[in-house]
Amino acid sequence: MSGIIGYCGKKPASGILLEGLKKLEYRGCDSAGICVGTDTGFRIIKKTGKVRDLKAIVPEEPFGQNGIGHSRWATHGGVTEENTHPHLDCTGKIAVVHNGIIENYSQIKEKLITKGHVFKSETDTEIIAHLIEDFYAGDLTQALRETAKLLKGTYGIVVMHNDLPNVLVGARNGSPLILGIGDKEMFIASDVNTMTSYTKQVVYLEDGEIITITPDEFHISDFHKKSANKTIKKVDWESEIIEKGDFEHFMLKEIYEQKESVVRGMAGRLNVNLATGHLGGLNMTNAELLNVERVIIVAAGTSYHAGLVAAYLLESLARIPASAELASELRYKNPIIQKNALYFVVSQSGETADTLHALRELKRKGAKVLGICNAVGSTIARETDGGVYIHSGPEIAVASTKAFTSQLVALYIFTLIMARIRDMSFEAGAEFVKQLQGLPDIIDKVLLKSEEIKKLVKKYSFAKSFLFLGRGINYFVAMEGALKLKEISYIHAEGFSAAEVRHGPIALINEETPSLFLVPDDRLRDKIISNIREVKVRKGKVIAVVVEGDDEVAQIADDVITVPSVSEYIYPFVMAVPLQLFAYYMALELGRNVDQPRNLSKSVTVG
Ligand code: M6R
Repeated sequence: MSGIIGYCGKKPASGILLEGLKKLEYRGCDSAGICVGTDTGFRIIKKTGKVRDLKAIVPEEPFGQNGIGHSRWATHGGVTEENTHPHLDCTGKIAVVHNGIIENYSQIKEKLITKGHVFKSETDTEIIAHLIEDFYAGDLTQALRETAKLLKGTYGIVVMHNDLPNVLVGARNGSPLILGIGDKEMFIASDVNTMTSYTKQVVYLEDGEIITITPDEFHISDFHKKSANKTIKKVDWESEIIEKGDFEHFMLKEIYEQKESVVRGMAGRLNVNLATGHLGGLNMTNAELLNVERVIIVAAGTSYHAGLVAAYLLESLARIPASAELASELRYKNPIIQKNALYFVVSQSGETADTLHALRELKRKGAKVLGICNAVGSTIARETDGGVYIHSGPEIAVASTKAFTSQLVALYIFTLIMARIRDMSFEAGAEFVKQLQGLPDIIDKVLLKSEEIKKLVKKYSFAKSFLFLGRGINYFVAMEGALKLKEISYIHAEGFSAAEVRHGPIALINEETPSLFLVPDDRLRDKIISNIREVKVRKGKVIAVVVEGDDEVAQIADDVITVPSVSEYIYPFVMAVPLQLFAYYMALELGRNVDQPRNLSKSVTVG
């Protein structure tokens, strides 16, 4: 999604804005622009393409006092310089950047045109600049406040006025805005990563809040001028962490990081002596957890797949009814809140609009909702009744990889806690703890298959469509593998239960549609082998992810990727990693933009 950065302080603004935009680019960017206040007035530079394209036309010597910048991911209007933010009012004195969607923009635009305003872009954002122009009478904050009252939709907005050097004002409704407090300098951005090289002191704005900043102070109030008392929070990660290091892409780096990120997700959360787990953030006693009669996990995309795996695990090990629901569907279906049900919303970014709105709807109905998030201080993390940070570190590639396995770690530990409170014995709990502790080594072994997978994809890069097939708990990993492949290689792919193939998808099988089967050595192995044979008979090519030494499958399949043998419920980790590598190398082979695939953004804050 689009990204915002604003700066006022003692340093020349242009360099800081460009640096911030670079860090926002991962969210999806098809054009970028800056507006910088100088002694001679606004200097606005815009460019379609990536931030590097903008950087190429901005003077190398940093300049300006204050400024705002925006990386745009087009929603209203094509990818053109006219549609690139910042947008100006008729006088050219008010500049605006905006994330989100103004739903009633066309009605407002019509009225503004009748009043004589002249528009230069097709964006919804431009109306904000013209509304502020109408309301402005020397107080920019008040003008934005009056404007915000008229807007329907989602927004994070930052505004500057040519007559007010070193003042920025912002407003938030449904799209994040964060204040960074430095030494005689202030930052305001949609993403905390943009400011962590300068300050770790931040304030998160809530919906319905307006902020005014100067280099020395800030003031936050609501739309009715009531001052808000805000807590200054400390961000505890370094911005260096979002560098690619020796890796060609963030996605590959993040795939490799999983051997460490799963450890971070477990740190201090496994109790070997009691053979159970501990998740302090749940804010629930064991007695309260024992009263839970159902668990419902709500999420989107990859996080939803993690939820599906976890629901299966919760039913299997903790013997508690559990399900996963798509946030986008749940928020509109008037969900029934069962007494003693516990909800989890799972989100890497903590800003996904569908998940956030599902959370709010559930809370409005009185449900207890916990969060599983990666982004610290994100809106979902703040609005849930408690929850768990997965600590996988910033995930930059649009395709989610390490967040998936870290979400699983958190949900596996939750399952262990629930199971141990119920029927799981000490011995079984101890064994489960041991298996979780063994994850880094297992992931490391799977990563050794990287080169093999890289070679294998060349053989299959002809395919226009893929089936990903698994059973039991790995069915959901097959869905995740298909999502990974389609989003970054643009090859059509679907994940099915291998058993369901004969109920329809088998009609797709021919020499040109390969199937990728997940074949663990568990109780469903023989069933899967039958499914493979059915595909082979119909001339379908088969790649099987199999356990080392499984010669029977190796003989039937056209190609195999071998993985270590683990216990049944650990397979989702073991199976997910080769599928991530498969998608990565396929995208590379096809020359795709791996980290920023077309049409996608890292955090879907509209919905
Ligand atoms: O930030 P979230 O976990 O809430 O994001 C949910 C999905 O948008 C996300 O997982 C998406 O499907 C990824 N691009 C998948 O790789």
